[in-house]
Amino acid sequence: MAKQLSGAGLRGQVAGKTALSTVGKSGSGLTYRGYDIKDLADQCQFEEVAYLILKGQLPTQHELAQYKTQLKQQRGLPQALKEVLERIPKDAHPMDVLRTGCSMLGNLETEHAFTEQQAVTDRMLACFPSIICYWYRFSHDGVRIEVETDDDSIGAHFLHLLHGKKPSALHEQVMHVSLILYAEHEFNASTFTARVCASTLSDMHSCITGAIGSLRGPLHGGANEAAMELIEQFSSPEDAEQKMLEKLARKEKIMGFGHAIYADSDPRNEIIKQWSEKLSEEAGDDLLYAVSERCESVMWREKKLFCNADFFHASAYNFMGIPTKLFTPIFVMSRLTGWAAHVMEQRADNRIIRPSAEYTGEAPRSVPAIEQR
Ligand SMILES: CC(C)(COP(=O)(O)OP(=O)(O)OC[C@H]1O[C@@H](n2cnc3c(N)ncnc32)[C@H](O)[C@@H]1OP(=O)(O)O)[C@@H](O)C(=O)NCCC(=O)NCCS
Repeated sequence: MAKQLSGAGLRGQVAGKTALSTVGKSGSGLTYRGYDIKDLADQCQFEEVAYLILKGQLPTQHELAQYKTQLKQQRGLPQALKEVLERIPKDAHPMDVLRTGCSMLGNLETEHAFTEQQAVTDRMLACFPSIICYWYRFSHDGVRIEVETDDDSIGAHFLHLLHGKKPSALHEQVMHVSLILYAEHEFNASTFTARVCASTLSDMHSCITGAIGSLRGPLHGGANEAAMELIEQFSSPEDAEQKMLEKLARKEKIMGFGHAIYADSDPRNEIIKQWSEKLSEEAGDDLLYAVSERCESVMWREKKLFCNADFFHASAYNFMGIPTKLFTPIFVMSRLTGWAAHVMEQRADNRIIRPSAEYTGEAPRSVPAIEQR
């Protein structure tokens, strides 16, 4: 007999085991393989954390250098993939571009056996920034960019391709932090998508393509873009306060606030908020950061709703000159590590994921002849 649902959205139900992360468990807000997210964001580069998530332990200096070199060498794109990207219209959503790019890569560099799972994951980690920026610069600026840079990190590679010049040390650092914060988050919707796909023994590119589709929605990864569209409407903190109160009175959902698991704060928020403040000072901004802070205080005062990881990411990315529609693809460049690690974990101890439904339809009945309906 199937267990009765305790609530919609499978909230609070344990749907499997993982050794990858804890989210909102007592004593610690968010850990990756036992390490607190704050310590990782303070002390590590993104590639170190990707290595940790994918391979189980933090790399030594030598292992990290080797891993970074290996990723650097895989930034190039096959000609057939470039041709597909060139045919995608300028007004396409970049998440759809990534979904297609990932799927096309799976046709060109198919994972033939699970023994290749680490190699195909590293390849995606190395070339997703190339895919998104190649399409973006071709469709928006009409240029075919060289995607093989010698930048030290994935974040710097992305900013370099996007802006056509190497990023500042501060911007590269913020990319490390941002990619670390987004890398893994237990059984969220996109990760669960990837695990369900993996449980059928499908290939890695199919699992990741499906996960990109789930992340695209505004209730999940798309929230950082929606948060940007929100804060840029306001002309001052006072204007933000007034309009936020009106939105709440209309019972509008405010993107970038609330969380399905965390009850009173998202540990990623205080970290990215500090970096957003630094970037705001660097940019000489006197509006966006102040407006964001006011939104935060209004939401807490009125609804006891707190900023999740997405809210201050919006202003931080904006200060680095990143177009709003590229926000969620950055999330993909990072979460790919978590998704792939979950696919590997599922494969290592697999049983096809196939829950049951509580039936709410008609009682059994006979099919009337067509002329009697
Ligand atoms: C994250 C989210 C999907 C969690 O959903 P959930 O666990 O189902 O939480 P609920 O929607 O049940 O929230 C409980 C109540 O708070 C309200 N609420 C939750 N988030 C809200 C928000 N961002 N703005 C306004 N009200 C919100 C809900 O409307 C609900 O009110 P009700 O009981 O009167 O219907 C939800 O908070 C949300 O939609 N946030 C905005 C999107 C977002 O930022 N997503 C990124 C998550 S990292």
